[in-house]
Amino acid sequence: MKTDTPQTVYLKDYTPPAYLIDHVELDFDIRADGTTVTSTLAMRRNPVATPATLVLDGEELHTLSVAVDGKPATYTETPTSLSLNDLPAAFTLQTVVRIQPDHNTRLSGLYRSTDGYFTQCEAQGFRRITWFIDRPDVMSRYTVTLHADQATYPVLLANGNPVAAGAEADGRHWATWEDPFKKPAYLFAVVAGKLDVLRDSFRTASGREVQLAIYVEPDKLDQCPHAMDALKKSMKWDEERFGLECDLDHYMIVAVGDFNMGAMENKGLNIFNTKYVLARSDVATDVDFENIDRVVAHEYFHNWTGNRVTCRDWFQLSLKEGLTVFRDQEFGADLHNRQTARIREVRGLRAAQFPEDAGPMAHPIRPASFVEINNFYTATVYEKGAEVIRMIQTLIGRDGFRAGMDEYFRRHDGQAVTCEDFVAAMAAASGFDFAQFMRWYNQPGTPHVAASGSFDAAAGRYTLRFTQSNPRASDAAPYLIPVRVALFDGEGHLLAGSEQTLQLTATEQEFHIDNLAAEPVPSLLRDFSAPVYLDFAYTPEQLTLLLAHESDPFNAWEAGQRLASTLILDAARAIAAGQSPQWPDSFAAAARRLLQTQAQRGAAFVAEALTLPGEGTLAEMMEVVDPDALHAARNALRRHLAEELEGEFSGLYAALAISEAYAPTAAQAGRRALRNVCLGYLMELDTDAARRLALQQFEKADNMTDQFAALASLANVNAELCPQREQALAAFYATWQDEALVVDKWLAVQSTSRRPDTLATVKALTAHPAFDAGNPNKIYALIRNFGANLVRFNAADGSGYAFMADRILDLHDRNPQVASRLARCFDRWKKFDDTRQDHARAALQRIRNHPDLSRDVLEVVTRSLG
Ligand code: ARG
Ligand code: ZN
Repeated sequence: MKTDTPQTVYLKDYTPPAYLIDHVELDFDIRADGTTVTSTLAMRRNPVATPATLVLDGEELHTLSVAVDGKPATYTETPTSLSLNDLPAAFTLQTVVRIQPDHNTRLSGLYRSTDGYFTQCEAQGFRRITWFIDRPDVMSRYTVTLHADQATYPVLLANGNPVAAGAEADGRHWATWEDPFKKPAYLFAVVAGKLDVLRDSFRTASGREVQLAIYVEPDKLDQCPHAMDALKKSMKWDEERFGLECDLDHYMIVAVGDFNMGAMENKGLNIFNTKYVLARSDVATDVDFENIDRVVAHEYFHNWTGNRVTCRDWFQLSLKEGLTVFRDQEFGADLHNRQTARIREVRGLRAAQFPEDAGPMAHPIRPASFVEINNFYTATVYEKGAEVIRMIQTLIGRDGFRAGMDEYFRRHDGQAVTCEDFVAAMAAASGFDFAQFMRWYNQPGTPHVAASGSFDAAAGRYTLRFTQSNPRASDAAPYLIPVRVALFDGEGHLLAGSEQTLQLTATEQEFHIDNLAAEPVPSLLRDFSAPVYLDFAYTPEQLTLLLAHESDPFNAWEAGQRLASTLILDAARAIAAGQSPQWPDSFAAAARRLLQTQAQRGAAFVAEALTLPGEGTLAEMMEVVDPDALHAARNALRRHLAEELEGEFSGLYAALAISEAYAPTAAQAGRRALRNVCLGYLMELDTDAARRLALQQFEKADNMTDQFAALASLANVNAELCPQREQALAAFYATWQDEALVVDKWLAVQSTSRRPDTLATVKALTAHPAFDAGNPNKIYALIRNFGANLVRFNAADGSGYAFMADRILDLHDRNPQVASRLARCFDRWKKFDDTRQDHARAALQRIRNHPDLSRDVLEVVTRSLG
């Protein structure tokens, strides 16, 4: 349902709210034919604001009554606002509305899912529950009462502490909760459902006892212990690393299968997508276990970075998200494997954020304007935001950063603040001048840093020259870029004392390193010290040396990625010109050395090092993307490695088998990852033997990591006849059809397949009982993953684009947030050839021309066409 012409909101227009709401009392009468919400607000004029009309936000509310200080009030109502004039300085406003959670397909506000009623209020869902000043700088204390049928909804939850409960007429019951903390409305939550609960407790460093509870759909308690462990580990970690203790008596997590995003940090009552709670070794992979650790930690960490100190307005979203992602990354690195965690973060950043920053939706980590805030829960705000926080820590050191965090909470606990406030606390604690650094908050685009080195043998002096530019914004002012460097000699020894962090501040800059006997090999941007593209004219020999000897695992991996990228991009050009690709012997030789040294370097690292850069990342490096040539080139290099190293892959595959019981530990996960990389390469040989090996692994596996890896490699097979493929796909579905999250994997493995008939398969699956167009996880698994399948989505005949447009139009009204995420699949359409561009433009125009297009999709599509 469309209401108004979409309006752009600007950061520069911020003004404080005209009224404050000190206390909120809510009563929910939940019934099948609708829920009645009675809201009693203790309000007063904001002393620091200019007096104005009281304007309340609302959406899809049916207003039953409005009273001020107990008397019916005169008001003006539009579909999205309720305005009142002539109000006293302080007063009580009572509204009664009827809402329809059973018909709320947007999954924003209060909505129905299989096992009951759930809420999602960030960013602006609270206004879909009751009339309110729905903005994060209005913070209130809440008392909430829920009434519902006792047998159908035995569990009634809200933020804070349970204060009273009882039975009432007609088999109904009620419960009242009180939240002692002031909070913005986006952190409000209630749940009414039939759920099982796993309970535990945690004693904080100062001896407070916190009751922990995880609520899940019936019969899933055996999939909760991992999330509970993750929660307790997060609580301890935050005490140790940041001195932050849990302030709550009750910390509850509720898992729901219908959820637009990953999870939500509602005060004391987190609501999670089941994907980030449920896990058992036979249904979840090592990566799933690690993601659960990180998301549970992320939402818990928000209790300080987000809830105790929140955002003044939604432009400041990265204040809480960038910082909290950084915190969950650090937690994950401490818990699992710091080396590979950093590699995966950068892989993810390059796959999602760099393309975003080069495309039509590019925005600074703090956007200056938006039409629909839900469109800005992006890789830029989250992941680039985390990189910006990481740079602050790099610049002032770990201790300086900790002091800055302490200062931030000392200054701002209980407040709604801005990104400047955060950086000012860091500056005050460290003495570092962040004035220029603030450009990271205000400018979009990925900076390009071009570096070159020259050696003056007579003087023993090495000079590094850097030029920074921002292709996205040519008028962009230079950034402060921390570049970690080290120098290596020709044998691969780190030159003592050469490790340092250079600070780039000017467009062009030079640094000298003296007293060198010979020209060194520079290792630049170690540990990925800034989210930039860094060019340096390395020779293949230098990269091979760094891959073998660089002591910073990130840059060792990076050297291998640089080697592979050059080979694949050259090969794609050759293939496009009708030639066959050429592979130097040195690359397979370097890969062989990696395999031979896996015991010393760690299986997890070697698995990452042998994983070639993804097609999406490589596409960003092409002037005009040729998805077919790129796909063929990348697969040809994989096949080349498989042919050269078949013996090594087979040998290691056998040697890496794990005999002890499954555990999602870093050590075991690393072994499984490398073993499955070996299987993946062997499958490139396209032999019956390899397929039988994959099927055998599929059938014998006692854990989802191995079973799924085997299935994924079989799903790519494109032979006329591959009985193993059909057998594995059928068996997988037959076994797991009642495990929703595993069915998502089954859909994903087919929509990401290399096979040329993938679109036909995806189309057929939209009619399969496994698919549900009302469930975001299913849409992401089948449709959005197809949109990320570079070669199949970007088919030259435009069929992928037309299909995606159909799905977006089918969904845009039912669930605008999810539809808008699908629309982002078109982000890079202008990087392709004219024919593809014509098809993509036609698909986008067809979407934009749809009458009453939802604001979310309209913003994305308009920017894309613009
Ligand atoms: N604050 C949540 C998190 O990152 C994300 C909620 C986003 N929801 C939305 N509808 N935009 O933990
Ligand atoms: Zn978050």
